[in-house]
Amino acid sequence: METLKLSGKCGIKKAAEILNNGGIVGIPTETVYGLAARADLSDSIKNIFTAKGRPQDNPLIVHIESAADLQKIAKDIPAVAYRLADAFWPGPLTMVLNKTDFVCNEVSAGLDTVAVRMPLDSVARAIIKQTGFPLAAPSANTSGLPSPTTAAHVLADLNGKIDAVYMGEDCTVGVESTVVALFCNPPRLLRPGAVTAEQLKEFLPDLVIDKAVLDEPDAGEKVASPGMKYKHYSPKTPVFLVEGSVKDYVNYVNTKADAVAVCFSEDIGINIKKIEYGSLLNESTLAHNAFTVLRKVDEGNFAAAYVHAPSKSGVGLAVYNRLIRAAAFKVIKL
Ligand code: TXA
Ligand code: MG
Repeated sequence: METLKLSGKCGIKKAAEILNNGGIVGIPTETVYGLAARADLSDSIKNIFTAKGRPQDNPLIVHIESAADLQKIAKDIPAVAYRLADAFWPGPLTMVLNKTDFVCNEVSAGLDTVAVRMPLDSVARAIIKQTGFPLAAPSANTSGLPSPTTAAHVLADLNGKIDAVYMGEDCTVGVESTVVALFCNPPRLLRPGAVTAEQLKEFLPDLVIDKAVLDEPDAGEKVASPGMKYKHYSPKTPVFLVEGSVKDYVNYVNTKADAVAVCFSEDIGINIKKIEYGSLLNESTLAHNAFTVLRKVDEGNFAAAYVHAPSKSGVGLAVYNRLIRAAAFKVIKL
């Protein structure tokens, strides 16, 4: 099929028209680009799984535009969900709640729960509003590859496989939303994002950080967030995550002549090929660039990529969580 490239106000109308006719459309959000379909249309949702090559048991996030839509898709909503919505919506926070029948089973992959968020991006919001229905949208990449933070990334993976892509701005946040399960007790952080664990703990003092956030699941282990068990975000070049000080990191990578160093702007003195991905002192810059640099390492012909690891707190935890998956859990501790 031909993938239409949409833009401007007409593009928003056209996106809504395609979605209401059962099509699937790449849309910008503030986190990463999403591949959207109406959350109530089973066949359209099935087409998302096919286009991405996504495992059938990995549920999708439903995107809403107004708080009133929350009750349409979720039930038994705890009071704290409304407090979190007040504090962080619209924005990069996804809450997992018990689902209503409005959400088709393909969205929730057969679970009784649904993940929901209200995006901040104005184009995303306009498309949901114009469509008039909540939109289910996973990241708009081929399953297993780095998530898309530009319209060009979406086309690189899905051109010819989806009905359209809205050619919006590059994503500001750069990593996917924080996912927190609220249907269970205690509440559980399933995926870290720009809304940090520390911020959530102010509302959810007993928040548990799911083991899958930092550890590799054991073979056959049942995980709370199905998405966390799959190989993720991987370039073709082997990636290693390197923990250590600037000095130790620089000395280490300088012994790897045929590799590329994915480093901080503070990593001075590297004499192999390097790609900076932001500043150690501002981890939001690392989040913003992480997926772009993971795509870039395949542009050179490198034996390996050695990525300087961020911290495991604040936004650093979200970046660390993506990078350790890109590295297939290969961590070098200096
Ligand atoms: O920022 C984002 O969240 C982006 C944009 C497009 O909004 N979307 C996104 O979707 O990252 P996706 O499909 O790539 O990731 C959804 C994550 C997966 O890890 C999935 O397993 C988890 O959310 N998830 C969805 N529904 C769930 C549920 N009912 N229970 C547990 N985890 C769920
Ligand atoms: Mg994804």
